[in-house]
Amino acid sequence: MKKQIPAVKGTKDILPGEAKKWQCVEVMVKYICELYGYKEIRTPVFEATELFEKGTGETSDIVIKEMYTFVDKAGRSLTLRPEYTPSVVRSIIENRLYLKPEPLRFYYIGPMFRYDKPQKGRYRQFHQLDVEVFNEEDPAVDAELVEMADHLLQELHVAGTETLVNSVGCKKCRPFYTKELRSQAERAREALCPDCRRKVITNPLRIFDCKVEACREIAQTFPKITDYLCQECREHFNRFCEHLDFFGIKYRIEPRLVRGLDYYTKTTFEIISTKLGAQDAIIGGGRYDDMMKEFGGPDICAIGFAMGLERLLSVVPFKKKREPFLYVAYLGEEAKRAGMSLVRLLRREGVECLLEYRDKSLKTQMGRANKLGASWVLIIGEEEVRKERYQLKNMATGQQEEKSREEILGVIRKAS
Ligand code: HAM
Repeated sequence: MKKQIPAVKGTKDILPGEAKKWQCVEVMVKYICELYGYKEIRTPVFEATELFEKGTGETSDIVIKEMYTFVDKAGRSLTLRPEYTPSVVRSIIENRLYLKPEPLRFYYIGPMFRYDKPQKGRYRQFHQLDVEVFNEEDPAVDAELVEMADHLLQELHVAGTETLVNSVGCKKCRPFYTKELRSQAERAREALCPDCRRKVITNPLRIFDCKVEACREIAQTFPKITDYLCQECREHFNRFCEHLDFFGIKYRIEPRLVRGLDYYTKTTFEIISTKLGAQDAIIGGGRYDDMMKEFGGPDICAIGFAMGLERLLSVVPFKKKREPFLYVAYLGEEAKRAGMSLVRLLRREGVECLLEYRDKSLKTQMGRANKLGASWVLIIGEEEVRKERYQLKNMATGQQEEKSREEILGVIRKAS
């Protein structure tokens, strides 16, 4: 036996039955995004490594531990995107989209890559819906984004979610908080994991991202960032919450929700599912008002979120439903040709048809149609070819009638 080559650890195939669910979700996602004025933007799967180092942030776990980075044949350092936000910002600057009259509202669905420890709900290739809006300072847009996410989850009948919100302050007020946090973390240093000990120096905020239980417990005793916000950030946060109340969105303020990426300013939020285990965040997002400027673009503020589609799909209730289709069972070469010409015509009329080319007995073909859940079977033998009238069997009622080409189409149209 030859050696089999398995899929790479942390990746998985999306098989046809599952892919159908993905398509349903993607249709709904696109519909909702467009309702809120977002347009699709597609950027490359890999970018210059520097883009994520600078954007996602040098002290984030993603950049330190999780990037798929490689050197290409010309010696450039490239990275498979671990997230989408820096790519959108790069594209806006490069294509000068900010000079156009259209609102800077973008969405994208596609794969992201992170070299994290694979487990249920955490993969090395996973998919995100990413939504970003630029040049809107008003906290009303922060609330509108949360409302949009909530709308999408409702349309998909996702129950059992909780919305967590916070503010991580800005460049002006965060240093005061970081200083206080560092001094407290310094005192607890010995009890922290080696990774967090490093974070005490590099960026103590990142201690909140640690998954080690002991570190999580210690982090609970640290001061809250919300107690250190400047006037502007406090007002922004209060107004964000007021707008959420206005929309009737239930939420919980979670002062330790600092999110694992370095770029956030002011608002951060997550929507978690009570039905998922350790990897419970379906949606994560927030404001990142400084990224565009730091990438050499204009001083344009931004906010967005990303939704993990694997996690979303695991909580969307799906009803088993097969689209109606016609199976063609034939006997002999002439009948096969008649069948081929009939399905050609029917498919052009929008009827899903299946004709299999392996020679099989009529009984086997009927068995296949039954097993596959065909709505109708078209039976073609020598007699049918000669008369140009075919046996159409309704698989639900068992009724079988002789029909012409036109009549077949009429019956199917009437039923669908
Ligand atoms: P994030 O929190 O890193 O944010 O990811 C967003 C969502 O992607 C998570 O809540 C989760 O559902 C999903 N996700 C993340 N990592 C994995 C994984 N390894 N396997 C499966 N699903 C995963 C961002 O990516 C930011 N770019 C969000 C954002 C957009 N902020 C502003 N704009």
